[in-house]
Amino acid sequence: MEPIGLVQWRTEYESGIEEIDRQHKDIINTLNKIYWAIEDNKAEGRIQELLNAFDFYETEHFKLEEDYAEKYNFPRIKELKNSHNFFKTTYKQLRQHYNERVEIFQPEVQEILHLHSIMNKWLSIHLITLDKELFDFLREKIPPSP
Ligand SMILES: [Fe+2]
Repeated sequence: MEPIGLVQWRTEYESGIEEIDRQHKDIINTLNKIYWAIEDNKAEGRIQELLNAFDFYETEHFKLEEDYAEKYNFPRIKELKNSHNFFKTTYKQLRQHYNERVEIFQPEVQEILHLHSIMNKWLSIHLITLDKELFDFLREKIPPSP
């Protein structure tokens, strides 16, 4: 059975900006891979590799959205940044839990998976609320390319 926490790409997540959609898909895929790697207790290196890849997407992606929001004066930029910061903090906690554990013992795994499910829940809501608002707003500001 598919765990409740996992996010799958849905057409309603489409932003109309190719690069953003690609990044959203990458974020979803990597988050799901992290979930399965931790759940299956995969090799240490593999999980580290996924977490490092996720660091990159997270930083680059939020920056790209915030740059767009700033450039076009998105009225809810503050909420957007706060929302991104919430996600970053949760992710940082996840990494900390992961790095500080000696071995993957059950309680740590539960805590890591709990933080992971918060991130997933956040993502599925964020994509159809603040992100959606931003992209609807940008569509009116940025003329479609000829
Ligand atoms: Fe986003």
